[in-house]
Amino acid sequence: MKILIVGSGGREHALVWKISQSKRVSKIFAAPGNPGMTQLAELVDIKPTSIIELADFAQQEKIDLTVVGPEQPLALGIVDEFNNRNLKIFGPTQKAAMIETSKSFAKEFMRKNNIPTPAFKVFSSPSEALDHFSEAQFPLVVKADGLAAGKGVYICKKKEDAAAAVNDIMLEGKYGKSGERIVVEEFLSGQEMTFMAVCDGKRVFPLATSMDYKKALEGDKGPNTGGMGAISPAPQISRDLFDQIMKTIIQPTVAGLKFENKEFKGLLYAGLMITRDGPQVLEFNARFGDPETQVVLMRLKSDLVDILDGAADENLFDVAADWEENVAGCVVLATKGYPQKVVTGHRIQGLERAKSLGVEVFHAGTAQDAEGLATSGGRVLNVCAVAPTLKDAMAKIYDGISFITFEDMVFRRDIGWSRK
Ligand code: AMP
Ligand code: GLY
Repeated sequence: MKILIVGSGGREHALVWKISQSKRVSKIFAAPGNPGMTQLAELVDIKPTSIIELADFAQQEKIDLTVVGPEQPLALGIVDEFNNRNLKIFGPTQKAAMIETSKSFAKEFMRKNNIPTPAFKVFSSPSEALDHFSEAQFPLVVKADGLAAGKGVYICKKKEDAAAAVNDIMLEGKYGKSGERIVVEEFLSGQEMTFMAVCDGKRVFPLATSMDYKKALEGDKGPNTGGMGAISPAPQISRDLFDQIMKTIIQPTVAGLKFENKEFKGLLYAGLMITRDGPQVLEFNARFGDPETQVVLMRLKSDLVDILDGAADENLFDVAADWEENVAGCVVLATKGYPQKVVTGHRIQGLERAKSLGVEVFHAGTAQDAEGLATSGGRVLNVCAVAPTLKDAMAKIYDGISFITFEDMVFRRDIGWSRK
């Protein structure tokens, strides 16, 4: 089979790495990919948002399966375009991706289907939102309705914070059209968990659980990021909790979307808060998490192509997964300033020595030129390992990191820590 991966981050490098282990695969392309992939895949210079060009490429190269990493192409309808041309693709249609691209849609959908989620109200008028804050209970959470690259979520301790969030999102238009509406929801405390499942429109194939570390700084301080690290399994998971998540969240979501003619084919990502009253959904994504995918795939023993191809063919019947009992960890090496402005172009050194310790290093924001490898983004590298215990996995990762250098390198030293 010939496979095309769309995207260029650590998540996509991990997908390429895992897919390259499949006996069914003869060739992998990545658009646009990154320098870490070059031994496993041929890089194609097409942006993930250029969906017509991607479909033209898949047609010319007779690609057997395309796998989409990031959310923007899904929001733009890449799957609809491929479906129209009879090209096989793993991902949801534009309509089904609304579970991620519109938080107000997702919240109303959950209310209708009795899927546990914090109580909420949707506002499209700033003054109505401000009126609501005079009588609301604090803390509460204000969220931009549309895609905001992991930003656009404000935890507000008091009325003034909420008013400032409305100002940013609706009046100043910091997130453009994504901020035309907001969701205001109840604040929940508990421990977060990521639950990802491959879906074929009807059936669900749960992946191993994971947890990511969203805050930029140690001790879960500082601004939210795309994720500074991850571990798998999630520390608080038990058989009962797994079954409860499948029964009260994942299965009703897939069934409810099908009922609304939005059959979900692709990766359903539930960002959960495990509260004293059980699991509740903070957000859905319509794609693989980054960096959760890195740790989950490190533990997958089965052929990922069987799973993704089975879902794309609406045939998840025959697929079974086999997982390492081991624990996986991932630490993101970022550039100082992330998730805000960063300076790029710094030389990266020490990767080979790190890898000789047995860690996997997935590339995210890297660029290659005649002189070698340099930084090209906020999240630069993902250092990952599996070991019998979390402590061993993290020790191996931090040993590996000690060999890697680039100017402005920052990372959290407390990945693996949890409040369990
Ligand atoms: P989201 O993009 O909606 O998952 O929000 C990003 C992060 O904000 C989550 O991972 C949580 O850490 C936090 N968050 C979002 N919604 C809530 C909530 N209702 N209660 C507490 N924390 C929240
Ligand atoms: N790590 C969170 C996400 O992929 O959205």
